[in-house]
Amino acid sequence: MSKDLREFLSLAKKAGPEFYVEVKKPLKPELEKDVLQLKLYKERGLSPVIYCPVIKGSKLPLVSNIFGSYELLGLALGLEPKKATKSQIFHDYLKKKNELKPVKKVPASQAPVKEVILKGKDVDLGVLPLIYHAERNSKKYVPIGQMVCRNPDTGVLNVGVYRHEVKGKDKLGAMFVPDHHAAYHARRYAELGKPMEVAIFIGHHPAVALGSLFKGAMDVNELEVAGGLLGESLRVTKAETVDLPVPADAEIVIEGVLDPKKMTTDGPFSEWEGYYGIELKCYVINITCITMRKDAIYHDLAPSQIEHTMAAALNQAAAVYDAVKAVVPTVKDVYLPHSGRSNIVGYVQIAKRVPGESNRAGIAAVNALSCLKIAVVVDEDIDIYNEDEVIWAIATRTTPDRDITILPRVLGDPLSPTSYDELRQKRGVMITKMVIDATKPLETPFPTVVTPPKDLWQSMKLDDYIK
Ligand SMILES: Cc1cc2nc3c(=O)[nH]c(=O)nc-3n(C[C@H](O)[C@H](O)[C@H](O)COP(=O)(O)O)c2cc1C
Repeated sequence: MSKDLREFLSLAKKAGPEFYVEVKKPLKPELEKDVLQLKLYKERGLSPVIYCPVIKGSKLPLVSNIFGSYELLGLALGLEPKKATKSQIFHDYLKKKNELKPVKKVPASQAPVKEVILKGKDVDLGVLPLIYHAERNSKKYVPIGQMVCRNPDTGVLNVGVYRHEVKGKDKLGAMFVPDHHAAYHARRYAELGKPMEVAIFIGHHPAVALGSLFKGAMDVNELEVAGGLLGESLRVTKAETVDLPVPADAEIVIEGVLDPKKMTTDGPFSEWEGYYGIELKCYVINITCITMRKDAIYHDLAPSQIEHTMAAALNQAAAVYDAVKAVVPTVKDVYLPHSGRSNIVGYVQIAKRVPGESNRAGIAAVNALSCLKIAVVVDEDIDIYNEDEVIWAIATRTTPDRDITILPRVLGDPLSPTSYDELRQKRGVMITKMVIDATKPLETPFPTVVTPPKDLWQSMKLDDYIK
């Protein structure tokens, strides 16, 4: 059997209540699910997959928070929760993201996502348990659809996660950040005077989403990255009304066409940084068909909560790791902590051997991602997954006037000055970037770290000493 959302949900359930909970009463589609998700996190310290059998107004169940923690990301990669460390999960991702697997084409008869086909006047997004996520959001959103489109010049497929404001029973918005590949494709379709066909799939094994979120060259087909992360070729089948393949084992597929010359507004929206954003520009998708399983499970995500940034944590850290490795071969590990929204702050661990290498590593890191504002570079004895140790390294190894480098905005994001950029400037984000070199200097003597004697540390068993 091929891997899909259902298989993942049963693994999470088996892993225990820390990883999977089921809601015991019907939920309103307005706000209730997201408040519940946040309460679990803030009041109980839990971030499990949340299965909601009933969302009022829809016949379909909903699942949320499938990227709620590093452990769940590890489970998506096939690693056992509680056994794999964050570093092991990250290095497993680093390896598998490069093991591209070609897709496996299957006929519609073998594709569960074709069990129900709604075309023409039957197209109605109202069948889905769509959620209104936050009080000041403009509308309901599809927050974790994975959109397939085609590079009009090379024919190579592109997949990414973009938010889709619900604009009517057969209309969705599509907000592409201007430096994301989908935006390049949309602009090119506009130049060519052609419509852009898209297919959004919702609900699949989370390894597929990690593939969709892959940060790499434009002409890498993310469906093949997904295969590497899944550990098997992704099964695809032909879409009904557009010339695109869609994952056969997805829960739901929404097909449509967008006019790349026309834009309208999206938002305000509860953004991943934890603030409401201002109105942005977006395209409009005219939906031509919805296909789904008979008992489809709708996959939702709480924007502005931990799962949003966690979903992209491995991909973003990998982009930083690869960029640093290109200039500093001794890079060991990279972590984008949730405190920095897994995107704005990055910790880079290197085995420094050459003076100045740490600063180079930091500059490469902030340059790797448009949103990465602060890079902290530490030595190999600092555990980057422990923020106490990172702050200790800054406190004791950084001489501010020498070791902090402020980079001008020129290295910042290339987002449109009329929309997203303005939003960021209002929040004071992304004006300049900063590298904090928290490594020990190589050129001058540095105090020795106090460490316990190795033999005694290894041989001592606490149970032998403490009742
Ligand atoms: C939950 C979630 C929501 C996202 N929403 C958007 C979005 O609305 N627009 C966008 O351009 N990128 C969004 N992203 C980021 C892109 O999916 C990601 O950067 C992807 O790699 C872009 O692919 P592309 O460069 O191939 O277009 C989102 C990421 C996550 C995890």
